[in-house]
Amino acid sequence: MSNNLILYFSRPGENYFGGQIKEIDKGNTEKVAEIIQNAVGGDLFKVETEEEYPNDYYQTVDISRRELKENTRPKLKDMLDNVDDYDNIVVAGPIWCGTYPMAIFTLLDNLDLSDKNIFPVTTHEGSGLASTVRDLEKNYQGINIKNKLAVYGSNINDSKEQIRNWAINNLQ
Ligand SMILES: Cc1cc2nc3c(=O)[nH]c(=O)nc-3n(C[C@H](O)[C@H](O)[C@H](O)COP(=O)(O)O)c2cc1C
Repeated sequence: MSNNLILYFSRPGENYFGGQIKEIDKGNTEKVAEIIQNAVGGDLFKVETEEEYPNDYYQTVDISRRELKENTRPKLKDMLDNVDDYDNIVVAGPIWCGTYPMAIFTLLDNLDLSDKNIFPVTTHEGSGLASTVRDLEKNYQGINIKNKLAVYGSNINDSKEQIRNWAINNLQ
């Protein structure tokens, strides 16, 4: 059996759900990361910024736009020293303005991803994988991207089986 690492960023609070703003106490991507872990095992690592994003949806969108434009690498509470123990790395995050939150790149910039199988996972409200795969390939030359999964954040409850099957088919 392979060793799986499930990296994820996820933000509770106000978010956009199929046309309306709703408050949630657990982020969508965190739910997906936990479903994957329950299905196939592995370690979870939550990417958390030193400075928390606001609860307010629109304020967070403004910050995220600026961070993307400036290609920022926000400081993280914890980093990983290495990923030597793992074969498979799931990189899970919400789509923020067309790609992963910049915090995911802060973490990945400091890791040696060569010889790892990388599985991009996103939650979104219509953009699918957006430019996550392109950005991974651009930022990390030679990265070995395997199967991908994009799930509607507002539809996780109905997607549990799909997520489980994806994990079982790809990460065992
Ligand atoms: C700052 C911000 C930017 C977003 N940008 C997009 C986007 O460009 N495309 C999209 O489909 N959804 C976008 N969304 C919706 C999120 O991707 C979606 O709600 C996701 O499931 C949130 O995951 P989380 O709860 O794990 O943080 C955005 C949400 C936020 C908060």
